[in-house]
Amino acid sequence: MSNIYKKVIRPVFFGLDPELSHEIACGILSKIEKSQISKSIIRYLVPTKEDKVTICGINFPNRIGLAAGFDKNGMFPGVMSALGFGHIEIGTVTPLPQPGNEKPRLYRVPEESGLINRMGFNNQGVDSILERIELQYPKHKRSSPLGINIGKGKSTPLEKASDDYLTSFEKFWQTADYFTINVSSPNTKNLRELQQVHFLEPLLKSIDSKNEKLSKTQKSEKVPCFIKISPDENYSVIEKIVALASEQNISGIIATNTTCTRPVGKKNYESGGWSGGEFIERKSNNVIKFIAKLTENKMPIIGVGGITDTDTASRKLDLGAQLVQLYTSLVYEGPLFPSQLTCRMIKRNSWFT
Ligand SMILES: Cc1cc2nc3c(=O)[nH]c(=O)nc-3n(C[C@H](O)[C@H](O)[C@H](O)COP(=O)(O)O)c2cc1C
Repeated sequence: MSNIYKKVIRPVFFGLDPELSHEIACGILSKIEKSQISKSIIRYLVPTKEDKVTICGINFPNRIGLAAGFDKNGMFPGVMSALGFGHIEIGTVTPLPQPGNEKPRLYRVPEESGLINRMGFNNQGVDSILERIELQYPKHKRSSPLGINIGKGKSTPLEKASDDYLTSFEKFWQTADYFTINVSSPNTKNLRELQQVHFLEPLLKSIDSKNEKLSKTQKSEKVPCFIKISPDENYSVIEKIVALASEQNISGIIATNTTCTRPVGKKNYESGGWSGGEFIERKSNNVIKFIAKLTENKMPIIGVGGITDTDTASRKLDLGAQLVQLYTSLVYEGPLFPSQLTCRMIKRNSWFT
């Protein structure tokens, strides 16, 4: 099947505009999401192996998750779970619907197994996404935990960014298994400035106090929150983010988002965030390694960036990540990739023990 994907399906998709291909794929996956029978058939046919792990009080069926941005509107988390992902992160979600940046804004870099995107948080807004999730992927029916990645709207000034994060946080509080506070996408103007202490401290403080308040009123545990960081910051900035995260009861770090840097070479690449392949892998691994060492492996890390096979996934775990996520290799390797990866990793780990 993965050969069929590479030999037949991928050439057809790659003959189309990248965003159009993605929309067609999303359309098909959304149709399947609505059919319980189809999802059960996929679950039955796709070989999955359990590799259970509990992190921050959340039970994951395996360590490989879908990174944010693939299912921005929460249209098909059930299918992604049936295909073998051990957690699904949807979004980035903003309080209001927004169209994102001007098209074209998504490019393939096949020679590097990469993508470049400058999407700009195109999404349907918190209310419709929440309604869909409650209907199609409610908490009590999930086999893979659901992460909600939240961000600020395009026209919200940085000084008011907390309001946007809090709006989505509060609305999704009862539905999310965890939250990702995205302060690292390169495609919303100045968003990465939210990684600076003077913005990040009040933002994290306000989220933690809202979490505390809701957990008291709802008589339930606080929802774990992760911060997603950029691979382009220097280590002193990352050190400050990690310190703030532990001060403000943040559960862990997602390392990393896409990079704005480019491999050395003559090619004039498009602007936007680079994902996939060796280039981002090295960058995100350096960040994982740094945080794991800094925190003596005490702060959970979700490693993301450039996972293309068993070695690249295992490397992130070996460096100190507890979970990993991927996006770009799903485009290059096809829908069976998550289940193949999980099965191969279990096999590999059982050889080493
Ligand atoms: C087209 C595209 C859209 C993305 N959108 C988001 C997003 O909305 N929010 C986010 O936090 N990350 C987003 N990402 C970043 C991914 O979640 C991930 O961090 C990055 O692609 C590196 O992983 P990969 O090399 O496995 O793709 C996006 C990535 C791509 C390729």
